[in-house]
Amino acid sequence: MLHCIRPLRVRVDFYGTHRNGHPPGIPPSLEALRNSLRSTPLLGLFAADPQRFSRLSFDWDGWLVDFSKERVTRDVIAALLREAEAANLSAWIAALFAGEKVNQSEGRPALHMALRQQDDTPVHVDGRDVLPAIRAAQARITALAGALRDGRRTGATGRPIRDVVHIGIGGSDLGPRLVCDALGAILPAGEHPPGVRFVSNVDPEHLTRALHGLDPETTLFVVVSKTFTTQETLANAAAARRWLQAGLPAGAAAGTHFVGVSSNVAAAESFGIAADDVLPMWDWVGGRYSLWSAVGLPIAIRLGPARFAELLAGAASVDRHFRTTPLESNLPVLLGLVGWWNARLLGHAERVVVPYAHALGLLPAFLQQLVLESNGKRVQRDGTPLTLPSCAALWGMTGTDGQHAFFQWLHQGLREAPVEFILPLRAAHPAGTQQTLLVANALAQAQALLGGRDPGTIRGELAGKGLSAEALEAAIAARVCPGDRASTMILLPQLDARRLGQLLALYEHRTFVEAVLSGINCFDQYGVELGKTLAAPIIAALTDGSPLPAATDASTRGLVARVRAADAAAT
Ligand code: F6P
Repeated sequence: MLHCIRPLRVRVDFYGTHRNGHPPGIPPSLEALRNSLRSTPLLGLFAADPQRFSRLSFDWDGWLVDFSKERVTRDVIAALLREAEAANLSAWIAALFAGEKVNQSEGRPALHMALRQQDDTPVHVDGRDVLPAIRAAQARITALAGALRDGRRTGATGRPIRDVVHIGIGGSDLGPRLVCDALGAILPAGEHPPGVRFVSNVDPEHLTRALHGLDPETTLFVVVSKTFTTQETLANAAAARRWLQAGLPAGAAAGTHFVGVSSNVAAAESFGIAADDVLPMWDWVGGRYSLWSAVGLPIAIRLGPARFAELLAGAASVDRHFRTTPLESNLPVLLGLVGWWNARLLGHAERVVVPYAHALGLLPAFLQQLVLESNGKRVQRDGTPLTLPSCAALWGMTGTDGQHAFFQWLHQGLREAPVEFILPLRAAHPAGTQQTLLVANALAQAQALLGGRDPGTIRGELAGKGLSAEALEAAIAARVCPGDRASTMILLPQLDARRLGQLLALYEHRTFVEAVLSGINCFDQYGVELGKTLAAPIIAALTDGSPLPAATDASTRGLVARVRAADAAAT
């Protein structure tokens, strides 16, 4: 259990459809609301309800989430909440925190919340309390980060480690990379921790750039892989080992320059990492939910164990909110319901995330894995095919940069894509008026998407410019912004470790909510296996000319032949 108040032990039917025996589609009540709203301009909804902003904005712990520019009403929210109850959402939330096997296809719980739990209530997995193991791992993270930060961790030649290279990919990379990038660029005065670099791509350019300028004697590699079988990570780790062996004095123990983070200790040891230098991962934590574990070691190294703890505490505060707050004022629930409404009922194929914070530049990439690897599914838990999408595609970049990249498309493209603005109100490092400009631009862009720019206004602006009638009409048409485009505005006080932990946990739990509403399992990812399997014979064909499988399509054959010819010509 994850909290001092024991929930009712819940048993939720993980395998059946989630509502009265018929598969999740579009419930009639929601369909009627959707049809009525489709023909109602957003500005009309504001005109009809002067209290719209206050009725559709939700506060919690300094956060404000404003849904009033979304194509929803209080009636829609109420209907979505009924849908959530029909989907047993409250029971699913309780089951998640109770350590039930909510990841039913892999027969596992999903207990990323246990990694940041602030009290010592036992956490049971298969009848065994795993909290002691979590606390032991946290102690090892603190000890190792401390030894690296104060120079006590040395390399094979006795010199203190000065640089750390994190090797991992997907959930073994994106979380710690995001947090270190967000909060580790400018440190408090007097802090001089090791530099932390990240390598994920098997493209040799990635590792080459990371190693550029580093000294093998003072470099430590943290190899992070839950399975310790991911080909990119193993290839990069092997290349790093060769780099070390080439750079260290003959006979020096390269293994002392490696730390492993994995659930597969045997594989890490066979790579050459001492057992004492392998920190644990567990199969009851999904990779994309694992930054709170030893996967987050680089965060503790770069920011210090205290700020890593603040990150976890922030996430834990959202856990408490999610677990205990009534659905109608529960931020992850409301975010998930509106996201589900946009994707499933309104049919939006895209979801654009625009953090108005340079420090959150890597957030869209992190959320792409979190959301699309979780909810990019085609069947429900019981294998029943989905009849409607369980999530929209997710993309984005920081504002104000996005205004000079894709906002043209958002304002004048033929297809609407709801935007999620994430805006810390106070700058971490104030510099003149920039923060005011940033905030004003975020609010203005949401306003422009809502209200657009009508032909009459433009006509007035162009009057007297001496344009011919034909040229005037063309000029007006080119300048019209239709508006009536939805967005959610998420305000937070500032971006620090605690608030970033809250933000990431908000998105973890909203992803779970959307999965429950669609009746899918958000904790497995079978879709990523096929590509890995198909790569093996192509690798062999490119490496030693092995024949491709007979069933290989002509395109792949032709491309392999072309690559082999290019390789032959280059040698
Ligand atoms: O993308 C597939 C995936 O299995 C992710 O779920 C995971 O985070 C990533 O690959 C890395 O896996 P591992 O940590 O086992 O190397």
